[in-house]
Amino acid sequence: MMAASQLKPKGDISSVFSHLGGKETVLDPSFLSLKKEIVPEAEDQVKIDEAYQRLLQSFEKEAAEIKEKGSAIVPQVTFAEIEANQGQFPAHIADEIRKRGCVVIRNVVPEQEARDYKDQVQEYINNHRGQIVGFPANDPQVWEIYWSQSQLAARSHPNFNTATLALNKIWHASDSAAIDLSKNLGYCDRLRIRKPQNKSFALQEHIDSGSVERWLDPEYRKCYTEIFNGNWENHDPFDATHRVEARMDYYNSPGGCSVFRNFQGWLAMAEIKTGGGTLRVCPLLKQSTAYFLMKPLIKEYIDKNDYIGALPGLCQGIGKTDYPQIIDTMVSMPDVGYGDAVFWHCDQVHAVEPKNDSQVDSSVLYIPSVPLCRINSEYILIQREAFEKGLTPPDFPGNHCEERFEDRAKPSTINKMEKLNMGMTTFPSLPTDATSGQKKALENHNKILGFA
Ligand SMILES: [Fe+2]
Repeated sequence: MMAASQLKPKGDISSVFSHLGGKETVLDPSFLSLKKEIVPEAEDQVKIDEAYQRLLQSFEKEAAEIKEKGSAIVPQVTFAEIEANQGQFPAHIADEIRKRGCVVIRNVVPEQEARDYKDQVQEYINNHRGQIVGFPANDPQVWEIYWSQSQLAARSHPNFNTATLALNKIWHASDSAAIDLSKNLGYCDRLRIRKPQNKSFALQEHIDSGSVERWLDPEYRKCYTEIFNGNWENHDPFDATHRVEARMDYYNSPGGCSVFRNFQGWLAMAEIKTGGGTLRVCPLLKQSTAYFLMKPLIKEYIDKNDYIGALPGLCQGIGKTDYPQIIDTMVSMPDVGYGDAVFWHCDQVHAVEPKNDSQVDSSVLYIPSVPLCRINSEYILIQREAFEKGLTPPDFPGNHCEERFEDRAKPSTINKMEKLNMGMTTFPSLPTDATSGQKKALENHNKILGFA
């Protein structure tokens, strides 16, 4: 773990995407031997090649329904339904999320509150014209802002917390894995106010949380054991057991995420219709994961030092030439309104529509779901220090635009929930039936943050 004094270089959201100008590097020869380590024997190669064929068939079979339903394939639920079901998704929605990897939750935050969030953010930006970095530089749509009052409030909104805890309940871990899925922490990300007709903030298909690391890191690789053994059908994307200690960023990359966020997410601060510059995903979570992880290992690629879209320090890119079935099954989010939230699994292929083809802005606060576990607590520690000083959070380009802004959120201005979310206070002790892993996670958290 780096200290807050070793924060990342300046930049913007483009630094992690090769198609936006992020630096590409070549793979050193050790990556070729890594392939042989994962697929050591001829019989392992046969299993991978056969599994790959079954995978292509599965894509073909599933594609028809996706084509027919389009955006309606994305599971949708109201926040009220989660509340009425003791903070859990109704069973049929949970099953759909497991298959599709994503969900739209309606009315997480009341409409007026979401409108107020945007007004406050706009005012914050206006107060500091010329002092905030954004992408693209000449007409920012994604702002390097982390400490506006709205962001702090949204991240620890009680409903948002309930929604992300419901998402955690879709996951599971072994009793001894040091994670507590009944608790979440705040990960401070930036925001987007994408103007009508904007074309510059188009993100091509990709997956975050590292690229080559999924093969390279022994613990990260264990999350995908069934895929690498040629049994992708048995892969469980919601088993957190080995995610807890997986190392997702070997290269201190400018846009690399060093926490385990089981779902990425955003909260809408606008009416964002399909076509209005919204998120796109491949709604076949298991199949798409198996596809990009297996393809570099099939017979055709096993002797090539090429991980097809995975390069050190950048996110995993998914191109049309190499992964046509993924690109062809991408769908946009259905229409959402102020206060609706969208979440997608950490292994999910996603993109942003090339154009905001609407008359209104496409504005969101990026907020993921971040359960309690050691790597997350360690990050919260340095993030807390950054917050206290008004610096950019440690995972993001070190612009530190907000350091001297008097109107940013500060430790003295935040409420009880926000303090807990930011690691400034700790959680009450655990119930007696807590697992050994839950106990360990809280013990670690208290020790790391200085509460023990
Ligand atoms: Fe992304």
